[in-house]
Amino acid sequence: MTNLRQNTVDSSTTDALVLAALDVRLRAHAPYSNFQVGAALLADDGEVFIGCNIENASFSLTLCAERVAAAAAVTAEKRHWRVIAIASKGGVSPCGACRQFLTEFGHDLLVVTIDAESKKRQVFQLSELLPHAFDHIPQ
Ligand code: THU
Repeated sequence: MTNLRQNTVDSSTTDALVLAALDVRLRAHAPYSNFQVGAALLADDGEVFIGCNIENASFSLTLCAERVAAAAAVTAEKRHWRVIAIASKGGVSPCGACRQFLTEFGHDLLVVTIDAESKKRQVFQLSELLPHAFDHIPQ
C-alpha cells in the first residue's frame, strides 16, 4: 500500500478544507501581483490552519500562503499534517520553496490544488511534487 492510499481523507473533510482555502484567499495582500492565494492545512488531530499570501513593496519579503499556514500550525505546536488545500486562479501548485518548506514536516502530505474560478481540483502527494527532497543535514 502506498503512502498516498494510507493518507486518505473523507470527502466532507476535503470539501471543508477547500472552502477554507477559497475563503482565506480573499484575505490575501497581493497589490503587486494581484494574484491571490489561500491555503488551508489540516493537522492530524483535525485542526485547520489557514494562510494567505502577503506581499511587500520590497518584493522578496513576500510570504506565500502555504508557508503562512504552515507557520501558524507549527506555532500552535501542530507538526503532523494530513492535507493542504491551495486555492488560486488557475489552481497553481506550490512553488519550489513552499514544497521544500512543507517537506520539513513530512513527505506524504496530500496537496489539493483548487482553481478558484472553475473549482476544479487536483490531488498530489508532496513527495511527488518534490522528489529526492533535501531533508537532513549530514552529520
Ligand atoms: N504564491 C503563493 O502564495 N504560493 C505559491 O505557491 C506560489 C506563489 C504567491 C506569492 C505572490 O504573492 C504571488 O503568489 C505571485 O507569485
